[in-house]
Amino acid sequence: MTEYQPTAQFQAQLVPYGPAQKSGEFDNMDQVSSTKIIFVFIITFQTQVIFASLPLVINTWNFRSSTIKAWETVFTNKQSAVDAVVEGCSVCEREQCDTTVGYGGSPDENGETTLDAMIMDGATMNIGAVAALRNVKDAIAVARNVLQNTKHTMLVGYQPIMLDPCAVGSQATEFAIQMGYTNESLRTNYSQGIWQTWKDNSCQPNFWVNVQPNSSTTCGPYEPISNNDVNNFWTRKEHKFGSGHHDTIGMIVIDSNKNVAAGTSTNGARHKIPGRVGDSPIPGSGAYCDNTVGAASATGDGDVMMRFLPALLAVEFLRANMTPSNAGEAALRRIVPHYPDFVGAVIVANITGDYGAACHGMLEFPFSVYTELTGNRVERVKCFSVN
Ligand SMILES: *[C@@H]1O[C@H](CO)[C@@H](O)[C@H](O)[C@H]1NC(C)=O
Ligand SMILES: *[C@@H]1O[C@H](CO)[C@@H](O)[C@H](O)[C@H]1NC(C)=O
Ligand SMILES: *[C@@H]1O[C@H](CO)[C@@H](O)[C@H](O)[C@H]1NC(C)=O
Ligand SMILES: *[C@@H]1O[C@H](CO)[C@@H](O)[C@H](O)[C@H]1NC(C)=O
Repeated sequence: MTEYQPTAQFQAQLVPYGPAQKSGEFDNMDQVSSTKIIFVFIITFQTQVIFASLPLVINTWNFRSSTIKAWETVFTNKQSAVDAVVEGCSVCEREQCDTTVGYGGSPDENGETTLDAMIMDGATMNIGAVAALRNVKDAIAVARNVLQNTKHTMLVGYQPIMLDPCAVGSQATEFAIQMGYTNESLRTNYSQGIWQTWKDNSCQPNFWVNVQPNSSTTCGPYEPISNNDVNNFWTRKEHKFGSGHHDTIGMIVIDSNKNVAAGTSTNGARHKIPGRVGDSPIPGSGAYCDNTVGAASATGDGDVMMRFLPALLAVEFLRANMTPSNAGEAALRRIVPHYPDFVGAVIVANITGDYGAACHGMLEFPFSVYTELTGNRVERVKCFSVN
């Protein structure tokens, strides 16, 4: 069950059978679980340890309660891989994993939380996605309704100016309500507090460039500066991402019949411009899968990553016989020459049940795995850097 791949520098910290962590505790995890886990061992060879078996559940970050729910869905209840991804990611939406998934996090410039989610079925190559979904908490479940109850791929629910959430124009919301979901505000005191602090801080940071008044010092409304004045002087102030600010749950499930599904759910970038859609609901960017090959899902700086479709790239590199970790790294390497400071990660699995991950711009990236052989555990990869 152990395969050695001398090319891949890898350090894994294996945490078998620890108690399910409440999301958001990654930074304290070792401390929290030290008394409870049976054993922890650290492997530091030039190897990658692979425990390939099906079914397989793998998801970004240490969102373990999602992993466990997906496992119960596909293994215990023998439901489909698609259902397992939806059930698993739905846990994160309800638990507001790190406040970057689900309601009450990442308020936009109007103080509203909107949700992006996608589910893809590798058996049928069918996809359902929602983008900028307002007033409905169950984003990935609504995405499954788009997959199962429409011939469309993505519904978008945003009307930038009017703040009535269900005014004509919030089409994805109307669809969701028709499908039986609850119409409710996604604001919480927490998200309103973040928004108020941002307003009080002259709307810093934000995502505007080449506008006046100066977006580095002043709130909007803005207007574009003339083309003659556009120069490299304007730099985007990046938001903190990475440890402690994980931004998406991405999940892959492969059932014992080798049916592959992949999906994502997120509330996007904090202080995003209203109407912004990130990489998570974009097929080939947030996730991609194909029953003949495997699957990938990405997390990170979505505005940059969606320009490269890293999940599609990783699946195509699998098709070209790369190992999962090498396929993930090759996908991210496409981005680096253009955006050397980008932060992101990708998880990859092939239909044998071999899996891996790659990351850039952080020290390491944790992801959660569940198979019969491994149980549920969090693994970490060291991120590559080009120097
Ligand atoms: C949804 O809730 C909002 C706010 O309470 C309300 O204005 C709107 O009419 C509701 N829409 C539907 C379709 O129920
Ligand atoms: C939210 O804030 C309001 C007003 O400050 C307060 O009355 C309410 O108890 C708070 N709710 C929670 C859940 O903290
Ligand atoms: C905008 O404000 C920042 C911060 O004060 C300053 O460094 C920059 O020079 C300003 N840009 C322009 C074009 O005035
Ligand atoms: C999955 O990846 C492993 C490790 O690279 C490889 O041994 C296996 O053949 C791959 N499976 C398929 C179906 O390509």
